[in-house]
Amino acid sequence: MKKSTAILAISCLLLATGLGASALLLAPDTSRNNIVSSGTALVGGPFEATNQDGKRVSDKDFLGKHTLFYFGFTFCPDICPAELQVISAALSEIDGAEDKFNLAFVTIDPARDTPDIMKQYVAHFWPGTIGLTGSAEDIRKIASAYRVYYTKAGGENADKDSYLMDHSSITYLMGPDGKFIRHFPFGTSADDIRKALVEITSG
Ligand code: NI
Repeated sequence: MKKSTAILAISCLLLATGLGASALLLAPDTSRNNIVSSGTALVGGPFEATNQDGKRVSDKDFLGKHTLFYFGFTFCPDICPAELQVISAALSEIDGAEDKFNLAFVTIDPARDTPDIMKQYVAHFWPGTIGLTGSAEDIRKIASAYRVYYTKAGGENADKDSYLMDHSSITYLMGPDGKFIRHFPFGTSADDIRKALVEITSG
């Protein structure tokens, strides 16, 4: 690993925790058994994107099931694959999860994350994982709707091929009606996510 890569990976981790905290302020937590409805308009909303098969999709395509949204990029050295593995582990332990849940991995690096790249990437995770990419404007809109921060690490000096992205690392759970239910901060265990998902969908 190049030294610069190590430093940027650390900055990615710091952002993950720091912005997780600020997202708590933006999106009131639904503490434990209590699903609050106030503030739900702060997270989520209409979007259009391109899935890993190159098909245009919208928020409407995710209605009818609970959907977990996670934002990141396929070149991410550690945070994104680790988080997607945790969510995948949680979903894999739930009977019939594919009938109840979508998992959407939204890239915040659409310049490199083409549908083909996304297709290869999501194949490493839970079988129902959907990869979403699109134009820079598509991604700007959906990231804004979900209060996701992202920026190219290193700015103008970043290598044009091997740059990293700084981004917030929060998993959002939306209901079958498309409304925000709760988030899972980076670091939530697979078992805690699984328990929460089972409770919410059995309730
Ligand atoms: Ni990442």
